[in-house]
Amino acid sequence: MKKYKTIFIFTTIILAMLFTRCQQPTVKSSDTDQKVDSLLALMTTEEKIGQMTLFTSDWDVTGPTMRLGYKEDIKNGKVGAIFNAFGVKYLRELQQLAVENTRLNIPLLFGYDVIHGYKTIFPLPIAQACSWDLGMIEKSDRIAAIEASAEGLHWTFAPMIDIARDPRWGRICEGSGEDTYLGSLIGAARVKGFQGDDLKDNSTLVACAKHYAAYGAAQAGRDYNTVDISDRTLREIYLPPFKATVDAGVGTFMTAFNEVDGVPATGNKYLLRDILKGEWGFAGFVVTDYTSIMEMELHGIVANEKEAGELALNAGVDMDMQSAIYSDYTLKSLEEGKVTMAEIDDAVRRVLKIKYELGLFDDPYKYCDEERERTLVMHQDHLDFAHEFAAKSMVLLKNENNTLPLSKNTKNIAVIGPLADSKVDMLGSWSAAGDYAKCVTLLEGVKQKLPSAKVLHAKGCEVLGSDKSGFAEALSVARRSDAVILAIGETRDLSGEANSRSNINIPGVQEELVAELLKLGKPVVVVLMNGRPLDLTWLNEQAPAILETWFLGTKAGDALADVIFGDYNPSGKLTVSFPRNVGQIPLFYNHKNTGRPITDVKWTSKYLDVPNTPLFPFGYGLSYTSFEYSGLSLSKNSITKNETFTVSVDVKNTGKFAGEEVVQLYIRDLVGSVTRPVLELKGFEKISLDPGQTKTVQFEISENDLKFLDINMDYLAEAGEFEVFVGTNSQETQSAKFSIVE
Ligand code: BGC
Repeated sequence: MKKYKTIFIFTTIILAMLFTRCQQPTVKSSDTDQKVDSLLALMTTEEKIGQMTLFTSDWDVTGPTMRLGYKEDIKNGKVGAIFNAFGVKYLRELQQLAVENTRLNIPLLFGYDVIHGYKTIFPLPIAQACSWDLGMIEKSDRIAAIEASAEGLHWTFAPMIDIARDPRWGRICEGSGEDTYLGSLIGAARVKGFQGDDLKDNSTLVACAKHYAAYGAAQAGRDYNTVDISDRTLREIYLPPFKATVDAGVGTFMTAFNEVDGVPATGNKYLLRDILKGEWGFAGFVVTDYTSIMEMELHGIVANEKEAGELALNAGVDMDMQSAIYSDYTLKSLEEGKVTMAEIDDAVRRVLKIKYELGLFDDPYKYCDEERERTLVMHQDHLDFAHEFAAKSMVLLKNENNTLPLSKNTKNIAVIGPLADSKVDMLGSWSAAGDYAKCVTLLEGVKQKLPSAKVLHAKGCEVLGSDKSGFAEALSVARRSDAVILAIGETRDLSGEANSRSNINIPGVQEELVAELLKLGKPVVVVLMNGRPLDLTWLNEQAPAILETWFLGTKAGDALADVIFGDYNPSGKLTVSFPRNVGQIPLFYNHKNTGRPITDVKWTSKYLDVPNTPLFPFGYGLSYTSFEYSGLSLSKNSITKNETFTVSVDVKNTGKFAGEEVVQLYIRDLVGSVTRPVLELKGFEKISLDPGQTKTVQFEISENDLKFLDINMDYLAEAGEFEVFVGTNSQETQSAKFSIVE
C-alpha cells in the first residue's frame, strides 16, 4: 500500500513538473534507481553540478545565516546540500528556496557535525569507547539523530572512525582509540544509531564515515600532516572500520585532508574508486572534507583549481564541500574531455539516491516538524541517558588505599581546579548545537549530591599559563576540608581539529597545584578532563586517586558525583594506551615483536631511560571492587579451518562492591607468512557481578577471527600455532595455546 502511495506522489511531482515546466519526463517504475534515472534525464549539466555542491551556512550571534550569494545559488539550483544550518524555521525557509524556485524542485540535503550528541551532549567519542558498551554507543547516536532530525537536519558528518595511535594528534578524541577490531564494531554501531532501521523515518540521519582514509596516521601527530604507511598497514589497521560501516549500510563517506602514499585522499582513485566503490561496492556518495579539493593545489599534485576538480571527480569524489571548484570548473573540464558525463552522472545519481532514500522527494519538509522540535530536543529521557552514559565512560586509573569512593558523610569538601566549574569545557570538542549553559559541572554535581555538606570551591589556577596567585585560596579551601576533589587537565580546545600538541603533559602549573595540595595530607582525588592520553607519570607517582573522565557532556557533574561518592562503580577501560612520556609515541598494544624483543640484554629493542610498556595499557581500568580470573580452558586445542572452539574463563568478584568488568580476549599468531602483532583484540564481554559472584565467560573462536593479509595480500588464516589470552586488560592476562591444522 505504502509503495503505491510513493509511486503516486512521485508521479504527481513529475506530472506537475511536466505541466509547469514543459519537460518530457517519464517515470519508469517505483524502484529508486529508476526514479533517479528519470530525474537525471531531465537535468541540465549545470543542474547536475549543483547536486554535487555543498556549501556552509554562516553564523551570527543568533545562529546560522546564509550569505546572499548562497541564497541565489540555491534558487538557481547551483547547490545540492547545505551544512552548518539548523532549526526547523530556518531550514524550512532554505528548503523552500530550493523546492519552490528551482526548475526541477530538487530538495536540499542539510548536514551538520553531530558527533557526540546534538543538543544533549554525550561524552566525547573516545570516552564513549571506554565504556565498551556498543548498545549505549548506538543509543547515544539514535538520540542524537532524534534531536538533530527534529531540528530539520538530514545528515551527520559522523561517525569519525579514524584509528589513532598518536596522542599528540588532537583528533584522537573524536574516534574510538587505537584498536581496529573495537573501532570497527563501534563504527557499525554508530551507523545503526544514526540511520535507524529505515532512512525514510524522519527521526534518522544519514551517516558519513570519515575521514577516509588514514587521517589518524598523520606524521608526528600534527594535524593534516602527510601519511606514509604500507598498503598492509592501511588495509589491516586503518581501513577495516570503514569497511564495517559500508557493511552496516552507511549512506555517505568523507575524504580525508591528508595524502596517502603521495596522493591526497580527495584525489585518490585507489582509495575511492578501486577500494571503496569497487572492492566494497559502496553505493552511497562521497563528499570531501572542508575545501579539500582546493587544497590539492597546495599539496602540489595539481597546478590549479580546475585540475584539482578533475582529479577529484576522476578519483570518485561525488560532492565538493565548500571549495566551489565543481561549480566553477566542471563544465569547462567536461568540454575539454577532462571529465566525462558518465562520471558526473554517477556522482549525481548517488546524491539523488540518498535524497530519495530519505523520502525528501515525497515530502521535502518532512524533517521540518515544529512539534518534534519543541518536544524532543533535550527531552528528559535523553538527559537521563546522558547521565548514565557519562558514568559508564570514566576510567579509574589509580585508587590507592581505596581513596575512592569518598564517603557521603564527608562534611567539608573542597572542589578545586580550573575545570571544576567550567561549563563550556564539559562539552568537549565538536559539540554540535550543545548549549554549555545547560551543562552540569563537577562543583554543581557535588553540591547536588551532598546538599547538607559544606562544599568549598577555588580555581587555584588556569589550565594554561604560569600564574600561581590562586594557589593560596585553593590551599586555604583545602585546609578547611576533609577531602579534596581536584579537576585538572586540558581545556576543550586543546584537543580536536587543528589542536595537536607536541607535548602531552598536564599543561601550565596544574601539577604544581597538585603538589601543594598533596602536602596537606588530605585525601586528594584527581579528576582528569582531557581529550587525549596525557603523560601522567609524575601524577601517578604522587596522587592517591586518579579518575580519567575525558569530557563527559551535558550531565558531566551528575555522573562525576555518582562515581566519586560510590553510587556508580566505575567500569570503563582505556581504548588507547597512555605512554609514560611523549618520546614513546607511537605506542600501541598490538605492536610487532621485532627480532630483538626487550630483555635485560643491552642489544635489544628498548630505550635507556624508560620501559617499553605504557604507563596505562590498552584495556586498562580499575573498579571499586576486584575481579579474579581463573580456569582458562579451551574446548579444543587444535582445529581445522572449518571448525570452531570455545574459550572459557571464570571471573569472580572478590571485593565488596557490585561491579562490571570488561573481559577481553586477544590472540597471537605465533608464526605467519608475514610477522603478526604480539596481541590482537578479538572479543570482549562486559559482565556484572555481585560481591562473591562468579560467572563463566565464553568466547567462540573461528577461522574468521584468525584471518589476516598474508604474504600475497590474500585475507586468510594460516595453519600453525596460536596463543589466546584472556584478561582484565592487554597486559594482565592468562593464556593457552592452540593450533590450526590443515
Ligand atoms: C572537519 C570535518 C568536518 C567538516 C565540516 C572539517 O574541518 O575535518 O570533520 O565534518 O569540517 O564541519
